[in-house]
Amino acid sequence: MVTHRIALIPGDGIGQEVLPAATAVLDVVGRRHGVALRYDEFDWSCERYLREGAMMPEDGLDQVRDHDAIFLGAVGAPGVPDHVSLWGLLIPIRREFRQYVNLRPIRVFEGVPSPLREATPDDVDLGVVRENVEGEYSEVGGRFGRGFPEDMAVQESVFTRAGVSRIADYAFELASRRGGGLTSATKSNGIVHTMPFWDEIVAERAAGYPDVRWNSEHIDALCAKLVLSPARFDVIVASNLFGDILSDLAAALAGSIGMAPAGNINPEHHFPSMFEPVHGSAPDITGNGVANPIGAIWTAAMMLEHLGHDAAAHDVLDAIAGVLAKSDLRTPDLGGSASTEEFTAAIVDHLG
Ligand code: NAI
Ligand code: MG
Repeated sequence: MVTHRIALIPGDGIGQEVLPAATAVLDVVGRRHGVALRYDEFDWSCERYLREGAMMPEDGLDQVRDHDAIFLGAVGAPGVPDHVSLWGLLIPIRREFRQYVNLRPIRVFEGVPSPLREATPDDVDLGVVRENVEGEYSEVGGRFGRGFPEDMAVQESVFTRAGVSRIADYAFELASRRGGGLTSATKSNGIVHTMPFWDEIVAERAAGYPDVRWNSEHIDALCAKLVLSPARFDVIVASNLFGDILSDLAAALAGSIGMAPAGNINPEHHFPSMFEPVHGSAPDITGNGVANPIGAIWTAAMMLEHLGHDAAAHDVLDAIAGVLAKSDLRTPDLGGSASTEEFTAAIVDHLG
């Protein structure tokens, strides 16, 4: 029996509803594969912010530094500005633990129609690799002239050779393992300093992966192509902002944002990686018990894979695909009337 210590941060809104679903699945699959997960739960959230003035304690990062992974639901709640919740919890974790890869797989499952009528399980199976610690989401800049008519804001993008090289390497390696191609998202026609720099380094790194066919696409055209012919894509590597937008678009192609998983990964395993579904806290459906748990459950499978349990991860994916293909059970975001609990129970049954 292998034991892993997991820091569990349900966070806000439906994060509180989908993480229990995912841990229920982890418990079953763990028993089957001899993997024991020990959870330490943290109440870091907007609720804590409103109560104590901070999303997490001063020494929060140290409290989770030695865990094998962090599993997070969602953060954000009405009444707390989104930049406060994001920069008070998620971004410090991503940066301090050098989770410089944000990996977001997207698949069309049998039984879940894509809004694109032509998209099938055979052709939509791709991964967005988002640079996760620099780029457009930088702290460099400031406000000037507050309270005057010339009030202004400046925010500088930061692209480093080390940062672009390592994200490109991760994406090329993933594309090579999947036996597919790589597309690099750029905008070097409009953004004349950072994006040509990105392009240059991606081209340099490509030389080390002669087996991977790759190309560059401008982000605007790439968005259009992703909708028009998603089957053309396998791995897409993108800067922080481009990758954020692309992965929500790609998640929607798969039928619902509630299905999309994500990992914030420190590939060297020097620090714990953090796994969280792509969706947010969904205040509009919080408390109704109808959140789609697939995003969180698939995220749990990514965590298992990261911890070295490929077969267990595979079983979870099979269970998701199996329940979707063989039953009509769907949460309301997919047009059904199943509750989070009912859908989760079906997955657990399928595994057991
Ligand atoms: P959202 O992802 O929470 O919701 C967008 C829409 O998708 C809503 O209509 C929601 O009901 C639906 N939805 C999302 N997940 C679902 C699920 N599992 N099952 C069924 N339907 C689902 O994004 P929104 O509304 O932009 O943000 C709400 C809050 O979440 C904000 O405070 C935002 O800052 C935060 N947020 C947090 C993220 C995170 O923790 N990583 C990511 C995105 C947003
Ligand atoms: Mg997110």
